[in-house]
Amino acid sequence: MSNKMWGGRFSERPDEIMEEINVSIDVDRHLFAQDIAASKAHAAMLASQGIITASDAKNIGKGLDTILSEIGKGGFTFKRALEDIHMNVESRLSELIGPAAGRLHTARSRNDQVATDFRLYVRDVLDETDAALAAFQAALVNRALEHAATVMPGFTHLQTAQPVTFGHHLLAYVEMAARDRGRFQDARKRLNESPLGAAALAGTSFPIDRHATAKELGFDRPMANSLDAVSDRDFVLETLSAASICAVHMSRLAEEIVIWTSPLVGMIRLSDKFTTGSSIMPQKRNPDAAELVRAKTGRVIGALNGLLIVMKGLPLAYQKDMQEDKQGAMEGFAALSLAIRAMTGMVRDLEPDEAKMKAAAGEGYSTATDLADWLVRTLKMPFRDAHHVTGRIVAKAAEGGLALHELPLKEMQAIEPKITKDVLGVLSVESSVKSRTSFGGTAPKNVAAQAKAWVKRLEKE
Ligand code: ARG
Repeated sequence: MSNKMWGGRFSERPDEIMEEINVSIDVDRHLFAQDIAASKAHAAMLASQGIITASDAKNIGKGLDTILSEIGKGGFTFKRALEDIHMNVESRLSELIGPAAGRLHTARSRNDQVATDFRLYVRDVLDETDAALAAFQAALVNRALEHAATVMPGFTHLQTAQPVTFGHHLLAYVEMAARDRGRFQDARKRLNESPLGAAALAGTSFPIDRHATAKELGFDRPMANSLDAVSDRDFVLETLSAASICAVHMSRLAEEIVIWTSPLVGMIRLSDKFTTGSSIMPQKRNPDAAELVRAKTGRVIGALNGLLIVMKGLPLAYQKDMQEDKQGAMEGFAALSLAIRAMTGMVRDLEPDEAKMKAAAGEGYSTATDLADWLVRTLKMPFRDAHHVTGRIVAKAAEGGLALHELPLKEMQAIEPKITKDVLGVLSVESSVKSRTSFGGTAPKNVAAQAKAWVKRLEKE
């Protein structure tokens, strides 16, 4: 038997391989709730426009509710022969309510249906991601408040650069997450237009009300061009782009956690809840969650690349290639969601080793810039000269295997006679961070104020 949804002009059923390559139900079954919501809105609109009768619309609505609960309870059999979610739902509807089911597809096509369903789905993803990022920010902000004055080494080139505070470092990720959220919120605004009623590609001759279905489904307005409505997947690409950037942020913090937890560094300890052991080496505490966050980033970026490649060069309007838009995207979104939640968990319970952090912060002549700044401030030296003098002092200290504050004053004065003992006041890591009071700097009082401002901002949302 040929396909009962579109088989009128066919006499043979599809080859098994045809069915295999064509079927999408394993993926688009995840759109069932959106598909049913869109169908309900469409049916109600058809009735209010006098295109179908109120009693047909009522039966369609009731039937769709039944299907929703059947699927919800796991009592629905998805049939591969029915290709996709749209035809699975419609076919079940016709079993439930008979011929009225066939009226639901008036003035629409699977092309506008799938575009609508996927927009609704991605909109939910955007909202869930925003909430997950808000929780991630809250976790970071709480730890930043606690560690506004905890000194750690700041790095450039992964070489000790200048002391910073752990709170400051954590707040850097709060800012990144805020921009990520901004990108997702922007994407949501552009996504939130309804393709429903674009039909196959050209619109329809029926007097439909696209504004009504748009409103019913929470869209801001119907999409203005029927060809565009069924043809573009830029809303997925844009969301995956924002997701990729966000995943890169997660991955950078994950990588830092991997470095910080290495016994070579030992600046933080992850909780047992976010650590795994080794089956052979009993001593091991592996940061698997952080490593997997790092790896999940590849999944997200891969999903973006995959869909960009599917979409490039497709002529308007709908092409079956576009059926391949969902699987990678859904997997990418799931990977990001897990990554954010895992990072949130790790941040909540990681324990910094404050003594180690402070010691590490003082290593590698990290307060050399403070010494140079002191020469500029106190002796009115040009910064370039101060940089040179400080370099010579560092070399001298290094020669003796001493830290800067351990180098006898006499030795410093041999290099620059005007140096006084006051200089010792700027060489500790605490005085270094305390002095960084410029806007956005790492001074503990800045960090505490920033963290408090974030607490308020997150509470207000
Ligand atoms: N399963 C299809 C997809 O996901 C639905 C649209 C099919 N439309 C068509 N004319 N074959 O893209």
